[in-house]
Amino acid sequence: MSSSLKSRDPEPAKTDAQRSALIEVRDLSVSFVDKHGERFSVLRNIDLSLQPKAIMGVVGESGSGKSTLANAMMGLLPKNAVKEKGDIILKGKVVDPIALRGRALAMVFQDPMNALHPVMTIGTQMVDAQRARFPNHLIRELRKRAAEMLTKVGIADPEKRLSCYPHELSGGMRQRVMIAMALLVEPDLLVADEPTTALDATIEAQIAELFRASRDTLDGATLFVSHSLGLVSELCDEVVVLYAGAIVERADVAELFNAPRHPYTRALIACEPRSDDQSDEAMVSIPGGLPDLSSLPAGCVFASRCLHASQICRQIAPPLVTAGQNHLAACWHPQ
Ligand SMILES: Nc1ncnc2c1ncn2[C@@H]1O[C@H](COP(=O)(O)OP(=O)(O)O)[C@@H](O)[C@H]1O
Ligand SMILES: [Mg+2]
Repeated sequence: MSSSLKSRDPEPAKTDAQRSALIEVRDLSVSFVDKHGERFSVLRNIDLSLQPKAIMGVVGESGSGKSTLANAMMGLLPKNAVKEKGDIILKGKVVDPIALRGRALAMVFQDPMNALHPVMTIGTQMVDAQRARFPNHLIRELRKRAAEMLTKVGIADPEKRLSCYPHELSGGMRQRVMIAMALLVEPDLLVADEPTTALDATIEAQIAELFRASRDTLDGATLFVSHSLGLVSELCDEVVVLYAGAIVERADVAELFNAPRHPYTRALIACEPRSDDQSDEAMVSIPGGLPDLSSLPAGCVFASRCLHASQICRQIAPPLVTAGQNHLAACWHPQ
């Protein structure tokens, strides 16, 4: 066994999904400590399992904890974050994601300009990105792989692009480079945190297509964080809806969009601007805001904004329970 993998006794009871899972998040809770030293809870009791080649979408309003989940899975939590509990499990073993970054785990960020080094050529960075994963390859071989992958992600004249600096490429092309770098590592888990948010709509569609096509190359799973339900509905197999740090609903993509059970999911879908809507009207949003994470309500976290909330909703948090086939929802009054 590799020294980076810490083994632990396997848990006895497992669902079918867990048994065949490539990567799992088990009972993860994360808090942040603010500048006054006070803790607030950002993720609570998160359970996920991803199958090989699956693309799982993570949606939810800004501040719901999507990036914290993505970062926790990559071992990239900031210093003021506290992992209260929980494990990342790769192929049945508890792992430390920090040790696996750049090999079993790869990430595509929202802004490739921040993720790329400004004074190193694309070629150097693409070679470096593969070093940990392929320590015995010659630089020449790694560079050849890089050029081939640039072609795969739709970048013409790859040799020329390898000698470019990041600022010489367009935003869309930089994001293609980031995706190419992630795919070169052949990760078990590719995490993409709002990878198209900085791009215009046409480029967004092209980048989304790349993630779809990446399944030909990638045997690993993808966690795709996005605030765009439209994109998630086209790209993902399964969707997790986060609200104030908790999973409120999780289902296969068609089921989630055709038969959403949680009022928050229904509200999110109702607020999604239609793609044929050319008006400049401000996007409709769900009335109210996220609860104060430093003093969460006793009952359901969504109760204060929910049209269906009753007394039990304000008193007891609803558990995440089966609401259909491969469908979970945390609601006392599923729709
Ligand atoms: N480095 C940090 N320090 C303190 N609080 C943070 C930090 N990063 C995120 N948060 C807080 O954690 C919550 C979840 O944030 P985030 O995971 O970025 O949500 P999302 O990606 O869904 O917008 C928010 O309340 C946010 O303000
Ligand atoms: Mg985010």
